[in-house]
Amino acid sequence: MSVSLSHPRVTAGLTTATELSVVVPTFKERGNVAELVRRLDASLAGIAWEAIFVDDNSPDGTAAAVKEIANHDPRVRCLRRVGRRGLAGACIEGMLSSAAPFVAVIDADLQHDEKVLPLMLAKLKSGEADLVAATRYIAGGSAASFSEKRGAISRLATRLTHRLVGTPLSDPMSGFFMMRRDRFDEIAPRLSPAGFKILLDIAATAGSKLRIAEQAYAFGERFEGESKFNIQIGVEFLGLLLAKMTGDLVDPRFIFFAIVGSIGLIVHLTVLSASLALRPFDQAQVIATFVAMTSNFMLNNELTYRDRRLKGFALLRGFILFCIVCSVGVLANVDLASWLYGERQTWWVAGAVGAIMSVLWNYAMSTLFVWRAR
Ligand code: GDD
Ligand code: MN
Repeated sequence: MSVSLSHPRVTAGLTTATELSVVVPTFKERGNVAELVRRLDASLAGIAWEAIFVDDNSPDGTAAAVKEIANHDPRVRCLRRVGRRGLAGACIEGMLSSAAPFVAVIDADLQHDEKVLPLMLAKLKSGEADLVAATRYIAGGSAASFSEKRGAISRLATRLTHRLVGTPLSDPMSGFFMMRRDRFDEIAPRLSPAGFKILLDIAATAGSKLRIAEQAYAFGERFEGESKFNIQIGVEFLGLLLAKMTGDLVDPRFIFFAIVGSIGLIVHLTVLSASLALRPFDQAQVIATFVAMTSNFMLNNELTYRDRRLKGFALLRGFILFCIVCSVGVLANVDLASWLYGERQTWWVAGAVGAIMSVLWNYAMSTLFVWRAR
């Protein structure tokens, strides 16, 4: 049997197995890939590594740029995903495609300092940890390159996370880490492909069995292109936290719907009390109902169903549908509550059951008909 000797990893007929897979999620990072490969090559000298770029069919031709490098460097490959978007999902699929004992995830834009990768690998190989998280928030780390606003958002999210879900991570928002592949393979089926927060999801899902160490690093400036972070990702993150708080029992979307509903109640009572000065009660109640319904609809469109946000004509059509759905909800609510009250139930039990019933109805119908999944 003959083995091609032109392959760089084949020496005298013996192949060196890849020790470390570096997974690089990309979306519109064409200008960064060559520089990243150059820097990995410099930092990982003496380590048998490979880079797996996972590109979500970027319109700027990132995948083609990676494949051009892969043509003459077999350590580099590209997994091009079509019809899908999402940082966490891309990382999961990249790591799943690895056969190496260790896998790392690093951003493509060179904000993560690749020079700490060998230190992280050493910690894993010593057996002291199953996962090493790179962190900006311990001695030796920093995040000076963040704008003031982004820095504030990141710190707030970090504090919220520490308050709401127990985690040993000092920088749970980090997207830079390395872990044993066997540990990853165990928990992969339980991870969520939505959102940005892959590290937090891994730590929360694996629980205390996963031994975590940390590695400080300085978060740098983006090399080329721009950040893909937006409000949608922030909202999704809040949803992830809420879901983890309830032990994944309640759909985060429902929690948002219920929060919007509670705000609606406050809006309703405020408008009602103001209108009562000018109108008789039944007219004031109609005005308050309409204002609250409108504000609920707009808030749900911006928050609860942000990923399916309606615009233009669809917004008007959705609003009319929402009003119909809520009207039926009110009728059902009053009907059920009156019946319960008639059965000699306490007034507030009857009232509460009716209200809960209409929230569930409104939520189910809104999800099915007003903000349909496309
Ligand atoms: N495949 C794929 N699909 N990759 C994506 C997607 C996507 O939908 N969205 C973003 N990426 C890639 C980017 O191309 C980049 O390589 C990496 O994910 C991080 O995205 P950035 O847009 O650079 O994020 P950031 O710099 O604003 O956010 C950074 O800081 C956060 C901490 O506050 C990242 O390191 C985040 O991971 C981190 O959570
Ligand atoms: Mn970045």
